Amino acid sequence: MNSTTIRNRLVEFGESKSHTENFVSAPQDSRRSSLKGCSTVNLSFRDRKASGKKFAMLTAYDYPMARLLDESGVDFVLVGDSLGMVVLGYPDTTSVTMEHMVHHCRAVVRGVKSAFVVADLPIGSVDTPELAVQNAMRLYEAGAHGVKLEGGVSRCREIAAIVEAGIPVMGHIGMLPQLVLVEGGYRVKGKTPTEAGQLCADAVAVEKAGAFAVVMELVRKEVARKITAAITIPTIGIGSGPDCDGQVLVIHDLVGLFPWFTPKFAIPRAQVASSIREAVRTFVQDTKVADGLTMEQNVLTEPPGANPTPISPSEPNPATLQKPHSSLPADATAARAASAASFLQSTRTYSTKAHDQSVDFQKAPGRNEALSKGGMAIHSVAAS
Ligand code: KIV
Repeated sequence: MNSTTIRNRLVEFGESKSHTENFVSAPQDSRRSSLKGCSTVNLSFRDRKASGKKFAMLTAYDYPMARLLDESGVDFVLVGDSLGMVVLGYPDTTSVTMEHMVHHCRAVVRGVKSAFVVADLPIGSVDTPELAVQNAMRLYEAGAHGVKLEGGVSRCREIAAIVEAGIPVMGHIGMLPQLVLVEGGYRVKGKTPTEAGQLCADAVAVEKAGAFAVVMELVRKEVARKITAAITIPTIGIGSGPDCDGQVLVIHDLVGLFPWFTPKFAIPRAQVASSIREAVRTFVQDTKVADGLTMEQNVLTEPPGANPTPISPSEPNPATLQKPHSSLPADATAARAASAASFLQSTRTYSTKAHDQSVDFQKAPGRNEALSKGGMAIHSVAAS
């Protein structure tokens, strides 16, 4: 895809997608006449910063989490390369590849209707401006609305090139996780006047290169406050104090889904790992040692009348029948298979496609509704 097409798509996206409606204060016509979709996005985020409204950003790496975040009102969903640690089990982000990012980005995008999706450019993907544009396009084509890349002064050529190609860029300064092996650990930045000066220069360079916002990771809170006041694009802090224009967290840290390590600055608001362990222990217990009552409920059969040709215990289930059963006339088998198929269909008319489809997973008479309202009844093994 060339940059003109990308620009056109951005303008289109600015007009039709609700995530920009949240931010864009410029009238439609000025958006339409904007030379680049990027400048439109940029303008809207600056306006929002100027209005004093804060930004909430969380990471997601798959469809259900992305959808939950979107439904809960986050402004940005970040497909972060923290994926390497909290999903793929690597010790840091330095093993994450473009293939990983594209794969997870696609899943996240399917779950998001309103938020602005930002995808990380992983280590090694932005070493030259050309490579940076090429890889940013891959993420853009995977459905991200913008990309994020680590580095300030050292990366402003790459940021400018991506912005020039029409893709919105979020910068990332302060502690840079992709440099953890070089730096030998994660430590707070901006403790010395030299470091604080370098961080300010980084923030200004990122802004000048055309980024629409900048993440500040582990920046001393006084320095983060000064930078936030000094630039016009929003600062999104992580471990950088309360004075940034917004906050970002790795979702696993927020909901207690990675119990083996939680950064000091993250306050878990839920204990999902404990809930999962409890549910799994209960299942294991039910399966292995309980008297069988709970497990008996794990069987679905139709309610009376749902199937005009009830299946007797001695006959095979036509829903799973691949070939006509030899003891039944072919047309009777076909009728039963069709009836079973239609029954199954009526309980599965959900779509896992993007939820702007007319049939919505949650609204369709699918799983939960059918189970609880008698589209299906739950019988014990003995009764079926
Ligand atoms: O990869 C990530 O999750 C991030 C956030 C920590 C900002 O970059």
